[in-house]
Amino acid sequence: MNRSTSRTVVVQGGTDGIGRAVARALEARGDRVVVLGRDPARGAEFSHFLPADLSLVAENQRTVEEIEARFDTVDALVLCARHYRATRLVTEDGFEHNFALFYLSRFLLSHGLLPALERAPAPVVLNVAGPGAPLDLVHWDDLQLARGYEGQAAMFQGGVLNDLLGVDFAGRGHRTRYALFHPGTTATGFSGEYDRDTLAFVARMKRQAKPAELVAGWLLALLDAPPAEPLSAYVERRRIGVHGGSFDAAAAARLRALTDRLLSPFRDPTGTEPPASAP
Ligand SMILES: NC(=O)c1ccc[n+]([C@@H]2O[C@H](COP(=O)([O-])OP(=O)(O)OC[C@H]3O[C@@H](n4cnc5c(N)ncnc54)[C@H](OP(=O)(O)O)[C@@H]3O)[C@@H](O)[C@H]2O)c1
Repeated sequence: MNRSTSRTVVVQGGTDGIGRAVARALEARGDRVVVLGRDPARGAEFSHFLPADLSLVAENQRTVEEIEARFDTVDALVLCARHYRATRLVTEDGFEHNFALFYLSRFLLSHGLLPALERAPAPVVLNVAGPGAPLDLVHWDDLQLARGYEGQAAMFQGGVLNDLLGVDFAGRGHRTRYALFHPGTTATGFSGEYDRDTLAFVARMKRQAKPAELVAGWLLALLDAPPAEPLSAYVERRRIGVHGGSFDAAAAARLRALTDRLLSPFRDPTGTEPPASAP
């Protein structure tokens, strides 16, 4: 991002963990930050907070509309919302919750905010997830894990779906760069509903984890100087390749077609994007 112009950064999941650390660091240095999350008490620390339950399609669409109405351009979109569920929950839209929040919300915000991003001088989407996991973590015949749901499986599959989202987005010739980012184990809120064993595991992990502020520093560096390539991926500070495996172009096209089909009953599912038949 060009530091000499005024910047607007939208941070999905900016009320806790890595998103909050990024939002605080950006605000501290004078950027305009729009924080998205559910919790108004935690959102109150920011100048621009839009409360939304982003597991719901309509809430993503409303959020996009509100951002478009208030801000001419969006320089960067940072995607951090997640919520672990030990047991399967179906949203009122009929989607498995993890699929809805960890994948569909990121799809809807990335595409919905695209016009505002494209108006910025050097726009970038930073999708903080878990790039580079094996493609075979995707349950193509049961994407929403109706048969044999398991919290970890849902979360890991979500990481791969976000890689495929990045491949599809970056293949469409936008000016907006798409960077996928794996923070590694970080001490954060670990939003979720856990079973006892997983909760104990998370507590142990947090004691050895790095602070969110360290990760935020790496993300700010990426926001300031996004790679020239349409798609990039990082595990902590190490750049990884974006070919094959979870970056497979045919799998990305397959997921895009499935996503368009799932969202077709909803109004204006991708903002202004052309439908799945686009290249
Ligand atoms: N922490 C790690 O060790 C680690 C490791 C690998 C990858 N990651 C990835 O890094 C990203 C950030 O993780 P984190 O650990 O920093 O997260 P976190 O501390 O658990 O925070 C999650 C954020 O998501 C928001 N959120 C949860 N449900 C929501 C909903 N329905 N609608 C809107 N917002 C919702 C929460 O805000 P509200 O409660 O206000 O809604 C919160 O701001 C995630 O994508 C995660 O997969 C993290």
